[in-house]
Order: sequence, then structure tokens, then C-alpha cells
Amino acid sequence: MGRLQGRVAIVTGAAQGIGAAYAKALAREGARTVVTDVIDTQPCVDAINGEGHQAIGMKVDVTSNDDLARMVKEVEAAYGPIEILINNAGLFSHLKLKPFWEIPDEEWDAIMRVNVRGIFQASRAVLPSMEKTGRGKIVNISSATFFLGPPGFLHYVASKAAVIGMTRSMARELGAKKITVNAIAPGLTESEGVQANEGMHGMRAPNRAQRAIGRDMVPEDLLGTLVYLSSPDSDFVTGQTINVDGGKMMW
Ligand SMILES: NC(=O)c1ccc[n+]([C@@H]2O[C@H](COP(=O)([O-])OP(=O)(O)OC[C@H]3O[C@@H](n4cnc5c(N)ncnc54)[C@H](O)[C@@H]3O)[C@@H](O)[C@H]2O)c1
Repeated sequence: MGRLQGRVAIVTGAAQGIGAAYAKALAREGARTVVTDVIDTQPCVDAINGEGHQAIGMKVDVTSNDDLARMVKEVEAAYGPIEILINNAGLFSHLKLKPFWEIPDEEWDAIMRVNVRGIFQASRAVLPSMEKTGRGKIVNISSATFFLGPPGFLHYVASKAAVIGMTRSMARELGAKKITVNAIAPGLTESEGVQANEGMHGMRAPNRAQRAIGRDMVPEDLLGTLVYLSSPDSDFVTGQTINVDGGKMMW
């Protein structure tokens, strides 16, 4: 039996990339998994169901309260109350690196709207449903860029710093409700989006060189941590950020 047998889990931004890997990992552990994104989720849903696990897909923009309300209603009708929320949706792999003084205000606002406000909105939307079961797991996806402060995407680094701050405050506000809130800070990961973005390829060699485990990082490297933070194994762990980057940053 899987470690998440029968639990109801939502992953945002899960049509492809790292989010799709998260959704597949939760489903393999027995979770009834909801794959949400602004793009077509069917290929990911089909892959999960094709492996004999349970998933449904929904079009959900995490910055739309209407979409989120519909999502909660439809998930409860299909699977029952929500127990796990993976806040993965983000604007990242399409970014073009540029010095901060060249970032247009509109681009700054778009990053903050999805990467920061989207997590706040999605978490707020699922909370009443999580409270029904008397337990819950929220996992927010930050980034190891917060620890290093690399040049080229100031808005993104700032947004992922905000995710760590929100994780801590949300953990304190939700502890009494038996809902844990933790963050994962992935290093540069070979998602489809990163592979398609030539501007990011120059970051690979320096990342390999700086890691204790000197190889490229793939989405599968994140799954053990994701499942741990979604499972009862982490019930007394909250407000934490786990850096998964092959031992690049250490302190
Ligand atoms: N790949 C990396 O190196 C890396 C490193 C650290 C953190 N991260 C974070 O991990 C997450 C996934 O990374 P990825 O490389 O797969 O990124 P990606 O850009 O390929 O995927 C992000 C997904 O979010 C979806 N999305 C965008 N806006 C949305 C919205 N408003 N509502 C719902 N969904 C939306 C996209 O459609 C896409 O499927 C992101 O939060 C990213 O910031 C990635």
C-alpha cells in the first residue's frame, strides 16, 4: 500500500515539467490526484491513469478565485475533502535572463501575481476543505536561487524568497489546525521548460561544478522530498524549507 493511499491531492501547474512529475509521484503512492494547470492536463492525467493510478484534470489559473472555487467544488464532488496541496505553478522556464534595470514593471507584476499571490489564493481556497478532515499538507515550491541570489532574474528570486516567508507564517497560522506547511527549494532542474530555454543552458556547467553530487538535476531528484512532506512521516515538521540541489548550498 502506498504512503498516501486514498488521500486527495492537488498539484498546481502540473500539466508538464516538474509539476507533472510531482502529480505522478503522489498518484504512485496511492493519492487520488488532481492535475491542474492553465494548459491542457490530459496527457499527464492519461499517463497516471494508464499506470493504473487515479487522477483527474482541471483547467485552473491559480490567480483566479473563480477557477479555484470551482476546483474545490469539483474535487470534493469527485474525491472528497482535499488533504494535500502542492503549490507548484509558477512563471519560470520561459524567463529571459536580464539585468534588473531592464525588467519592465509589467513583467515584475506578472511574476509576483502567479508565484506569490497564486500560492496565497490557492491555499486560501482549499483551506475550508482541508479543515473538514482535521489534517492537511501544503507544500510550496520555492527555489534554491533564494539562497544564492543569482543575477538575471531579480523578480523571480524575490518571488521565491516571498514563498519561504509565506511558508513560515502560514505554518504558524495553521499549526493548530493540524495542517503542515513546508517548502522545497529545488536547484536548477532539467524540466522540459528549462531544456527548451537556451538562455538557461549556460547555468548547467557552473551548477554541476558547485554541487557535492556533480551532475545535472532531474525532476525525479525532488520526488522523495515531495512525498515525505505530503505524508504522515512529516507530521511534526512545519515551516521548513528543504533545499534539494545536490549539495550546492550548505549551511
Ligand atoms: N526547473 C527548475 O530549475 C526550477 C528550480 C527551482 C524551482 N522551480 C520551480 O518549480 C516549479 C516548476 O518548474 P518547471 O521548470 O516545471 O516550470 P515550468 O515553467 O515548465 O512549469 C510551470 C507550470 O506552471 C503553469 N502555470 C503558469 N502560470 C500558471 C497559472 N497562473 N495558474 C496555473 N498554472 C500556471 C505552466 O503552464 C506550467 O505548466 C516552478 O514553480 C518553478 O519556479 C524550478
